[in-house]
Amino acid sequence: MEKVSETKDIVEYIRSIQEGQWKANLLNVALELNVFNVLLENQKLSSTELANKCGVKFHRPSDFFNALVAARFLDRDQNDLYSLSEISQKVLNPNNYEHYMVPYFIWTTSRAFTLGIDRFKQLLQSEEIEEKVQLGSEYYTDVPPPDFFSDAMHGVSMLASVSIPQLEFWKDFKTFADIGGSKGTVSVQICKAHEHIFGTVCELPSVQEKCEQYIKAQNLNDRLQFQELDFFRQEFPEVDVLIFGHILHNWPIETSQMILQKARKALNKNGAIIVYQAFLDNEKKNNFKSAMMELNMALMGKGQEFTEQEILDLITKNGFSDARIHNDKSFKAAIAFKRETD
Ligand SMILES: C[S@@+](CC[C@H](N)C(=O)[O-])C[C@H]1O[C@@H](n2cnc3c(N)ncnc32)[C@H](O)[C@@H]1O
Repeated sequence: MEKVSETKDIVEYIRSIQEGQWKANLLNVALELNVFNVLLENQKLSSTELANKCGVKFHRPSDFFNALVAARFLDRDQNDLYSLSEISQKVLNPNNYEHYMVPYFIWTTSRAFTLGIDRFKQLLQSEEIEEKVQLGSEYYTDVPPPDFFSDAMHGVSMLASVSIPQLEFWKDFKTFADIGGSKGTVSVQICKAHEHIFGTVCELPSVQEKCEQYIKAQNLNDRLQFQELDFFRQEFPEVDVLIFGHILHNWPIETSQMILQKARKALNKNGAIIVYQAFLDNEKKNNFKSAMMELNMALMGKGQEFTEQEILDLITKNGFSDARIHNDKSFKAAIAFKRETD
């Protein structure tokens, strides 16, 4: 006999998928129509005022704005005036950059990740990979614009920027380098949390201006610097901690090995590496986000995600000791050390 509660759970699960897509579409359209920036400037507006300022000519604009209220992106008061909700104030507000998630949202729901249903299907039915994102030096300079990409990565790495500074071991170290550290999302938070630490963001030149502006805006010029570095051509700086966030998953395994060997060579004795990206569970069954990241990496290039066991094995094989997974609620990183005796 069918259990009613199970049917309800299954129906709810399917509905939550459909609602997620509706919310994503609604939010993308509201962003394109500038709804949040208009409300940032004007605080509270009626439906007609908001519609006029956003170019909404639709015959019942309040339906659109009320959907945004129901999705918790807007609030509406007793006088039917609309304002930003708490969620929008926090993560859709460019003035609150530390928590700003708009480029991340646009990137993950409308630009990357299989580039829409038609292209997704086409890629699965062919032997090609997404032609704009072939491996090679042009990958990170041409597609997408580097400033948009680094702002999108800022949102992707927000949990890393909260969790990594909280690692116990920073008290034992003085220097770090964030290889491919984008505009410095994680590096900035490490330096803010630990006044004795000096850091370097090592990146391609396309990110330099954005990164230096961000460091300056955070008043960290004296302890955090940008260094132009191409990890295919150059060695890494000699530091206590090397960070690789969403780096190894972009490339074939041979490149990951090359990067880890360079890291082993550059690291000070007893130093540590931190590797974070979307690790798969060992069974490859239970982590939807990581499974989609793995598929995305395969469709868009020749990269891959790793299971937790695979990343620990890879790090260990390349000369590091005491490899372990740091597990902080929804954020995971692989950590390992270069021991005196290695
Ligand atoms: C997926 S992003 C990760 C950014 C950041 N680590 C994070 O987790 O948010 C990969 C970064 O690697 C950088 N990158 C790509 N190829 C590189 C190379 N050959 N040398 C140095 N950095 C590179 C890109 O510019 C990009 O910012």
